[in-house]
Amino acid sequence: MIYYKSCMIVNVWIVPPMKLAVGKYISIGDGCYFNAGTTFIDDWKIEIGSDCLFGPNVTLCTTGHPVSPAHRLEGMYSFPIKIGNKCWIGANVIILPGVTIGDNSVIGAGSVVTKDIPANVVAFGNPCHVYREINEQDEEYYFKGHRFADQPERTGDAPKLDFME
Ligand SMILES: CC(C)(COP(=O)(O)OP(=O)(O)OC[C@H]1O[C@@H](n2cnc3c(N)ncnc32)[C@H](O)[C@@H]1OP(=O)(O)O)[C@@H](O)C(=O)NCCC(=O)NCCS
Repeated sequence: MIYYKSCMIVNVWIVPPMKLAVGKYISIGDGCYFNAGTTFIDDWKIEIGSDCLFGPNVTLCTTGHPVSPAHRLEGMYSFPIKIGNKCWIGANVIILPGVTIGDNSVIGAGSVVTKDIPANVVAFGNPCHVYREINEQDEEYYFKGHRFADQPERTGDAPKLDFME
């Protein structure tokens, strides 16, 4: 086990590849981190607040098609996606059209987010549901039975890339 004391994100950190359908309807706040394979189906607005963390292979999809085969090829629809500040989106999450995720919330790995998720909660699943609120225990524990207070000042070096000082 290693516990890193620093995250070292200053502006926006993108681990390639990042895939963009259009590339002009996305806004991203300072301090966000995108692990490899983020896919934006950004036919309409995708707004991301500041200090958000994205695990690998997250898909944000504003677009869908009519279910009726008679109408399916006539057109498509796009609804905006909004993610608040300080959210953590786990690996392989899919966020569907029109979804808003509130500040600070955590979306667990593998979730399919079909509806809005409020602020300050842990949510996961397919379809994604709120599991619990973020609480005082989370101030004390960073993972299962592991307490912040039990960590030495530094137990491992955060991985450093060439451009880092
Ligand atoms: C959601 C998450 C943060 C854990 O939250 P937590 O509140 O600490 O949850 P716990 O680990 O105590 O698990 C609680 C229960 O939810 C289940 N659970 C946790 N995460 C889950 C997920 N993503 N999907 C389905 N079930 C999940 C656990 O199996 C456990 O079930 P149980 O009560 O039947 O034993 C974590 O599981 C997760 O998904 N992390 C994302 C990791 C990731 O994507 N990393 C990539 C780099 S960013």
